[in-house]
Amino acid sequence: MYLPFLLLCLSLGVVKKCAAGENWCYTGCEHTPTHWGDLPGSFCGEKRQSPIDIVTSQVQTDPNLLNFTFTNFFSQHVKSLTNNGHTVKCTLEGNTAEINGGGLNGTYSLDHFHFHWGDTEQLPGSEHSINGYRYPMEMHIVTVKKGLTLDQALASSDGVAVLGFFIDATDNGNMSRPWGELTSLLPNSTGHETTVNSSLSINDLIGNVDLTKFYRYMGSLTTPNCTEAVVWTVFYEPIKINRNLIKQFPTKTRLTNIYRPTQDLNQRKVVASPATPLAKSDSWCYEDHCDYTVSQWPLLPQSYCAGARQSPINIDTQKAVVNELLGPFTYTNFNNKNIIKSFVNTGHSVQGVLKEDIVEVSGGGLGYVYSTVQFHLHWGSSPRDSMGSEHTVNSKGYPMELHIVSKRKDLTMDKALLTPNGLAVLGFFIKANSTSSPVSGMEAWKTLTRYLSAIKNISSVVEVTEQISIDDLLGDVDQTTYYRYNGSLTTPLCNEAVVWTVFKEPIQLDEDLMMMFPNQTGYRNVFRPPQPLNGRTIYISKSTVPRPVMLFVLLASLCAFSCHFHL
Ligand SMILES: *[C@@H]1O[C@H](CO)[C@@H](O)[C@H](O)[C@H]1NC(C)=O
Ligand SMILES: *[C@@H]1O[C@H](CO)[C@@H](O)[C@H](O)[C@H]1NC(C)=O
Ligand SMILES: *[C@@H]1O[C@H](CO)[C@@H](O)[C@H](O)[C@H]1NC(C)=O
Ligand SMILES: *[C@@H]1O[C@H](CO)[C@@H](O)[C@H](O)[C@H]1NC(C)=O
Ligand SMILES: *[C@@H]1O[C@H](CO)[C@@H](O)[C@H](O)[C@H]1NC(C)=O
Ligand SMILES: *[C@@H]1O[C@H](CO)[C@@H](O)[C@H](O)[C@H]1NC(C)=O
Ligand SMILES: *[C@@H]1O[C@H](CO)[C@@H](O)[C@H](O)[C@H]1NC(C)=O
Ligand SMILES: *[C@@H]1O[C@H](CO)[C@@H](O)[C@H](O)[C@H]1NC(C)=O
Ligand SMILES: *[C@@H]1O[C@H](CO)[C@@H](O)[C@H](O)[C@H]1NC(C)=O
Ligand SMILES: *[C@@H]1O[C@H](CO)[C@@H](O)[C@H](O)[C@H]1NC(C)=O
Ligand SMILES: [Zn+2]
Ligand SMILES: [Zn+2]
Repeated sequence: MYLPFLLLCLSLGVVKKCAAGENWCYTGCEHTPTHWGDLPGSFCGEKRQSPIDIVTSQVQTDPNLLNFTFTNFFSQHVKSLTNNGHTVKCTLEGNTAEINGGGLNGTYSLDHFHFHWGDTEQLPGSEHSINGYRYPMEMHIVTVKKGLTLDQALASSDGVAVLGFFIDATDNGNMSRPWGELTSLLPNSTGHETTVNSSLSINDLIGNVDLTKFYRYMGSLTTPNCTEAVVWTVFYEPIKINRNLIKQFPTKTRLTNIYRPTQDLNQRKVVASPATPLAKSDSWCYEDHCDYTVSQWPLLPQSYCAGARQSPINIDTQKAVVNELLGPFTYTNFNNKNIIKSFVNTGHSVQGVLKEDIVEVSGGGLGYVYSTVQFHLHWGSSPRDSMGSEHTVNSKGYPMELHIVSKRKDLTMDKALLTPNGLAVLGFFIKANSTSSPVSGMEAWKTLTRYLSAIKNISSVVEVTEQISIDDLLGDVDQTTYYRYNGSLTTPLCNEAVVWTVFKEPIQLDEDLMMMFPNQTGYRNVFRPPQPLNGRTIYISKSTVPRPVMLFVLLASLCAFSCHFHL
């Protein structure tokens, strides 16, 4: 059976003895990807080519894409790794691994798996991309339709099935054993082969990727001669491995940027299995530069943004109901100056990530102990506007709003997001200080804003080394006077899981420090407009009844009996 060898020639273009596959490359030769179509017998210039960019807003769910069945697929061990000059190709012991299901028409036998990657400096190196995003690497598991000869398979529109897995880089020090072993055996030169002695399976490499979530489209081999016989499966969840292990692929093999650029879709359809979320969580925004602008958030898969208890809201103080149970809060470690782990530019906000399980909030009528996980800010475009806060009071906004987010201590985050009081958010308005008299908390905000220059890029993170506590940021703002209502997260997926506290007195901040948020991140107006109240009650803590009035009422009623002094 010459199938494996021929397939190797066709799909990987091994240098030796393969007529058409011979003289192509990714860089540094005559036939780079844009010229693969010129090779004799090549299909690389045709209309059903791979890889592609998967635009999730154009993808439809296909109910026929049921679960895969893997037979002997995960039990067999990797036998050898070969550097063929274009990639590293891995073969398994035995020859009985098969897949079916997953919407495939028939059973497919495993042939081999191989990888695509970038270079040591710039990780991106996957072949497929999602909404233009290229992952660091991609693994391809190549299978051939059972019962067909190779010629028949290559002549059939679904003769070959390739399973594509994205590989993402983590920095969390997780050197997984399977990937550590695989990378330690990477063959260092063309033609070099290494043997795997330990029991390493594809299952070990895939880890806990959810195999029910995948995209499907009809395409081609991604190397010359680019035969259009491939039914593609691209899994939604990436395999996550340590960045340093990913860098070993280009370093050890001396092969760099071995991926084909994405090809035109040409009217083809990309579909997804029912379990696949069809938009990445970052495909939303406030203004019009994304798939889902604020009014389209309800269209996001699994979104709650069109629910009946959404946040933020306008607080009509006339209708707020005094509630005696809304007493003072109890804070644990709000005064700890070493609890902020990092600041992150999320692309929608600047977030202070707290060290786990140290900071807590209780009291304040919450009824549970909540663990504080992060705080973040919302802003507009100028400190002089009253636009930038999410909540408004009697239709008046503030230029910024601080949100301190806590999760019920007795629940996991996943559970909390599905529980009506799973999260507690403390909201503080921020306004510009109007006098030059010293304002408490300004020093902490100066320290915080100094970090912004290190996170100008979206998704960048800076570790916090200077001392800042939450109390420092709050200054001496009155924390006994607040509004309370049941609401939601104010960003997708807008889970209706939040007990909201909005403090009446704003924090005061210098205008120049406020401007640093839009100036350093490059985005402004990151706030959601108020949502319909839908009959919800807004409560107000007892102490918000202005003290002089209370005193007046008290004295007036006393005076009704007998009174000898004047107010
Ligand atoms: C190119 O692909 C076709 C089938 O799609 C195959 O018949 C042919 O032999 C291939 N050419 C070479 C040179 O491998
Ligand atoms: C597919 O697999 C998932 C998890 O493995 C399971 O929850 C689901 O019920 C399966 N679906 C079908 C149709 O078998
Ligand atoms: C499935 O494949 C067989 C032959 O391999 C073919 O006759 C049949 O039409 C295919 N069915 C679908 C739904 O594509
Ligand atoms: C490390 O990776 C292994 C398997 O790849 C996984 O089971 C484990 O949860 C990971 N640990 C962390 C801390 O991510
Ligand atoms: C490649 O690795 C082998 C051992 O696996 C070693 O003997 C050989 O010298 C290496 N070649 C180069 C060019 O580094
Ligand atoms: C694997 O085993 C072979 C022979 O048993 C030995 O020569 C080789 O060095 C071993 N490789 C590794 C990486 O241990
Ligand atoms: C706000 O406070 C800062 C520092 O405390 C001060 O320099 C600035 O002049 C104040 N702004 C106004 C408008 O008074
Ligand atoms: C932001 O990204 C650019 C280009 O990707 C890079 O050159 C720059 O160093 C990055 N800046 C920071 C602060 O990470
Ligand atoms: C929030 O909802 C719960 C359950 O419906 C209710 O008991 C509680 O009083 C509500 N709280 C507020 C502030 O409306
Ligand atoms: C922010 O940017 C604006 C316009 O680019 C500039 O006029 C202003 O001085 C900047 N402010 C600060 C505090 O950097
Ligand atoms: Zn490939
Ligand atoms: Zn928020």
